Amino acid sequence: MSSKILTLLGLVLFVVGINPVLGTTKETNASRLKRGLSLLPPPFLFNKRATATATASARPSHAPHPPSYGHSGRIHVFAGNGSSLGYVRDSPVNSLNIVADSEQDLRVQSLTSGEPFDLRINGPTKKSPRTPLYLGVVAARNIPLHDLVKVPLSTVIQARHPTASDKGFIQSTIWAIDSNTKELKAQYMNPNGTKSPLLPAFDPHGNELHFVEDLAIYNSANSDFPSVAVKFYLSED
Ligand SMILES: *[C@@H]1O[C@H](CO)[C@@H](O)[C@H](O)[C@H]1NC(C)=O
Ligand SMILES: *[C@@H]1O[C@H](CO)[C@@H](O)[C@H](O)[C@H]1NC(C)=O
Ligand SMILES: *[C@@H]1O[C@H](CO)[C@@H](O)[C@H](O)[C@H]1NC(C)=O
Repeated sequence: MSSKILTLLGLVLFVVGINPVLGTTKETNASRLKRGLSLLPPPFLFNKRATATATASARPSHAPHPPSYGHSGRIHVFAGNGSSLGYVRDSPVNSLNIVADSEQDLRVQSLTSGEPFDLRINGPTKKSPRTPLYLGVVAARNIPLHDLVKVPLSTVIQARHPTASDKGFIQSTIWAIDSNTKELKAQYMNPNGTKSPLLPAFDPHGNELHFVEDLAIYNSANSDFPSVAVKFYLSED
C-alpha cells in the first residue's frame, strides 16, 4: 500500500520535474516586484525554443499585449472646456491622432504603483525591443523649468533624473495619476532636485502637444500660434 503511494508520489514529482512550463508560469514580473526582485529579462535573451514553448503555454494566444502590472491604456486629451480633442498618437508621440484609426493611438503602461512612475510605450509599434522606450520629456538644457519656454513630450529611454542624450536632457520618471479621475499629471525635476508641475498644452496649428510652466508666458512669446491648455487622462481600454 505505502509503496504504491510512494510510486505515485515519485511519478508526480517526475512529471513536475520534466515539465519546464509548470516551473516557470508562476514567476511573473509582478510576483518578482512584490518580493523586491528585479524584472525578468526579455525573452530574446533565452534560447528560442524554450521561449516559444513557455510563451505559447503561459499566455492565451489571443492576448494582444503583455500582462499589465499597473496602469495601462491610451492617453485621452481634453481641452480646458471639457471637449475631447482625441488621443496621443503613436508616432510622433508629441501629436494628437487626428485620423479616426485607434491603431495609431499610443499605448502606454506603468510597471510600478509608486509615484512618480514611468509610462512604458507598448505600441502599436515597438521601435526598439532591446531598449524599452518611455513617454517622457526633453529639455533643451538642464535648467530650471521657469527658464524654459516649453518642454516637448518625447519618446525617451528610462531616465529617473535629467539625463543628457542626443535630443537634450531627458526625464521619464515624471508621471502621477489621480486614482479616481485617471487624470495623468507630470512633473519636471529641476537641476537642484526640486520638482515643478508641468502643465500640458496643445498647439493646434502645429498639432503639437507640449508642457509649459505658464501658458500665458508661452503664448505671449508665441502669439501667432498660441497653445491651449489641455488635460491628459488614462483611458484603460
Ligand atoms: C517581464 O517578464 C517578461 C517575461 O515573463 C519579459 O518578457 C519582460 O521583458 C519583462 N520585463 C518587463 C519590463 O516587462
Ligand atoms: C473647446 O476648446 C477647444 C480647444 O480650444 C475648441 O476647439 C472647441 O471649439 C471648444 N468647444 C466648445 C464647446 O467651446
Ligand atoms: C531649486 O530650484 C528651483 C528652480 O530654480 C527654485 O525655485 C528653488 O528655490 C530651488 N530650491 C532650492 C532648495 O535650492
